[in-house]
Amino acid sequence: MPGVEIRPFSEEQLDEAAELLAARHKRQRAVEPLLPAAFEDPAVAREEVEELWRRDATGSACFRGGRLVGYLLGIARDRDVWGENVWVDYAGQAFEEAEEVRDAYAAAAAEWFEQGRTRHFAQVPASEPALVESWFRLSFGQQQADGIREVRAATEVRVPEGFEIRRPTADDDVEALLAVDLALPRHHRSPPVFTVRPLPTADELRAEWAKTLAGSEETVLVGFDAGRPVACWSVVDAKHAPEFRGLHAPEHACYLKFAATIPEARGSGIGVALTDASLAWAAEEGYRAMGTDWRITNLLASRFWPRRGFRTTFLRLYRHIP
Ligand SMILES: CC(C)(COP(=O)(O)OP(=O)(O)OC[C@H]1O[C@@H](n2cnc3c(N)ncnc32)[C@H](O)[C@@H]1OP(=O)(O)O)[C@@H](O)C(=O)NCCC(=O)NCCS
Repeated sequence: MPGVEIRPFSEEQLDEAAELLAARHKRQRAVEPLLPAAFEDPAVAREEVEELWRRDATGSACFRGGRLVGYLLGIARDRDVWGENVWVDYAGQAFEEAEEVRDAYAAAAAEWFEQGRTRHFAQVPASEPALVESWFRLSFGQQQADGIREVRAATEVRVPEGFEIRRPTADDDVEALLAVDLALPRHHRSPPVFTVRPLPTADELRAEWAKTLAGSEETVLVGFDAGRPVACWSVVDAKHAPEFRGLHAPEHACYLKFAATIPEARGSGIGVALTDASLAWAAEEGYRAMGTDWRITNLLASRFWPRRGFRTTFLRLYRHIP
């Protein structure tokens, strides 16, 4: 096989990059047909690559015999959230030979490092284990998983004895729900997740609840144990989940954006019941798929969601230099 030639990515490569992305997506849909069909069309895939390009993406183009055989594009996200970062987003890479992502990264990362951007994130399709493996051999590790599953009609909900599931009401429930809200960020701050984000304050949470209960786009289901809220699940239409779009969002999908049970009630069956109640709600509303995501270091969530039928579509990988 002749050697690969690496050049900086430029606008002239958008068409060929779109072809590579469409081919990658087609391979992924062969494994995960719930993903949207539209992006198998290079013209539709092109919009995704072009969007990155318009966001000042930089990266590498790999050629063999004058033909584009791979590309890598990184964008910058909000520094306050992600630090000095580069994101290889969902449409940010496609390779005929998985090994060559390492050459493409070496060239692109030289510039990123020069700019002081040392936190590197990459969304890699789970359907390409050789590509994941190549990233691992660039010192990346998994940080997050995206998952999807079908919504089926007639999901049976078995509420554990003594529990009740219903929508929250303004005055009665909010104060008691604050502990449920805090259960997720508290868990994320504990080992082995070690998130460093500060906990929200009670007033911030009250303000969020006021918005939600005043009629936001969220559908909230709460699990009560003997009248006390112990668990909360929240689902939105995909259009209200800005990250859940494009290549990894099925058609007619909703998104499970929050789920937490207070520690004392975990393992009681209320989480399974709320998941089923959310799926039953989604079926009634006409959704055909549900998405969610989880920290891979979250031992509870990373075991719970696959057991509830969510299949990983993309692995978010992370490397911090040094
Ligand atoms: C992940 C989480 C939401 C699950 O909620 P939960 O209320 O504990 O869920 P359940 O009690 O219904 O189910 C937990 C396990 O106990 C099992 N279980 C259910 N009823 C049971 C019972 N009566 N006796 C024993 N086990 C039971 C469930 O089957 C499940 O195991 P499985 O996944 O192997 O099938 C909860 O662990 C949590 O809040 N974690 C911290 C916050 C978090 O990670 N949120 C998700 C962010 S993505």
